[in-house]
Amino acid sequence: MALKITVIGTGYLGATHAAAMAELGFEVLGLDVVPEKIEMLQRGGVPMYEPGLEELLRRHVAGIEGSTGRLRFTTSYEEAGAFGDVHFVCVNTPQKHGEYACDMSYVDSAFASLAPHLTRPTLVVGKSTVPVGSAARLAGQLAAQAPAGEAAELAWNPEFLREGFAVEDTLHPDRIVVGVTSEQAEELLREVYASPIAEGSPFIVTDYPTSELVKASANSFLATKISFINAMAEVCEAADGDVVKLAEAIGHDDRIGKKFLRAGIGFGGGCLPKDLRAFMARAGELGADQALTFLREIDSINMRRRGHMVEMARDAVGGGFLGKRVAVLGATFKPDSDDVRDSPALNVAGQIHLQGGQVTVYDPKGMENARRLFPTLGYADSALEAVRGAHAVLHLTEWREFRELDPATIGDAVAERRILDGRNALAPELWRKAGWTYRAL
Ligand code: UGA
Repeated sequence: MALKITVIGTGYLGATHAAAMAELGFEVLGLDVVPEKIEMLQRGGVPMYEPGLEELLRRHVAGIEGSTGRLRFTTSYEEAGAFGDVHFVCVNTPQKHGEYACDMSYVDSAFASLAPHLTRPTLVVGKSTVPVGSAARLAGQLAAQAPAGEAAELAWNPEFLREGFAVEDTLHPDRIVVGVTSEQAEELLREVYASPIAEGSPFIVTDYPTSELVKASANSFLATKISFINAMAEVCEAADGDVVKLAEAIGHDDRIGKKFLRAGIGFGGGCLPKDLRAFMARAGELGADQALTFLREIDSINMRRRGHMVEMARDAVGGGFLGKRVAVLGATFKPDSDDVRDSPALNVAGQIHLQGGQVTVYDPKGMENARRLFPTLGYADSALEAVRGAHAVLHLTEWREFRELDPATIGDAVAERRILDGRNALAPELWRKAGWTYRAL
């Protein structure tokens, strides 16, 4: 009989994973403790912007015309426990307020709520990003709390999807990593990830701690690449060099690679910054803090970029923001997402606002979330509206829409034709030809 799958947590990760599992042909039950999210998903809606996700969900959500009906949603752990042979835990692990460590309360409560309903042999698969050592702890709790006892097994299976590419990354992952303690668990996961998902994807089987560490180290490495190129940008600026050319030139060396070398205002989002910090915190608890002190520098290079952008903008408008209008293009932490968590763009906008500037923000998809998080900033419904009367325009998230702006048209709306490109993503010659002063980080 085909395996039945539950997915606990329906955020970027869980909603995508649930839809992907249904696409593979499994019967899937998605669970979330927020009833509004579940109601929306049941109607075929998606509580966040993620390209291709709504179409994928609508192909499978029960009750949607023409769907396979393989995907349903619930808020009940009892139902989930009875339904699933394999339970994927996809809840988030945000940074704790005022601390480096991550907040495990959603993971802990998901396990505590599910365990009492596991009455037959089952596999619980953790996908959330957790501090190393969590899987071993949770496996013990599961065996103690589940009526099925040790037949309620745990596997760890970190997720490497990128927001904006969640569907593509889930259906065609570049590797699948599983931390297991039994051959049975490995076999079950091989069955779940049988083609087409795993076709061509390396399937790496390891222990709990290694699987947890793969995730923390992958994100730390990516963050290190970005901060490395941003450090080079600082040196280039001091020496009159061009960091974009430098990145292109070093990237031709396959050992270095071209990706993740875009200099700019740095990384943000719900993953890289908090994962880096949680990794340092956990290494400290393990007595291995010295091994990761370099990550502190990676974090501070990253945060310095935001401050530097603010300084550049201040210089550009004559040394102070009072009485100056600043247009901010971009609010999300990266394009093709509506996610504004730890967004460098909003951080810069907020700092300028605090220093007395009149800031107007526009973003193609992130307006609602931005308004909720930074209600005191000014917002406009289009790029053209945002730049009206601006003394400086800041390009802070590299949406395609901004690359396609016509510098001449928006030039007619501004007070001063001055653009600062915080993402090194615009075409300087086009802007200069239209009479703009163009500067990049
Ligand atoms: C990141 C990882 O890339 C995923 O592999 C991982 O699964 C995910 O975190 C996670 O832990 O869940 P994501 O946060 O969606 O994915 O975004 P990225 O594409 O990694 O971008 C992160 C930030 O780095 C963005 O703010 C982006 O603008 C910035 N960035 C990226 C740069 O400043 N320069 C670059 O060259 C690349």
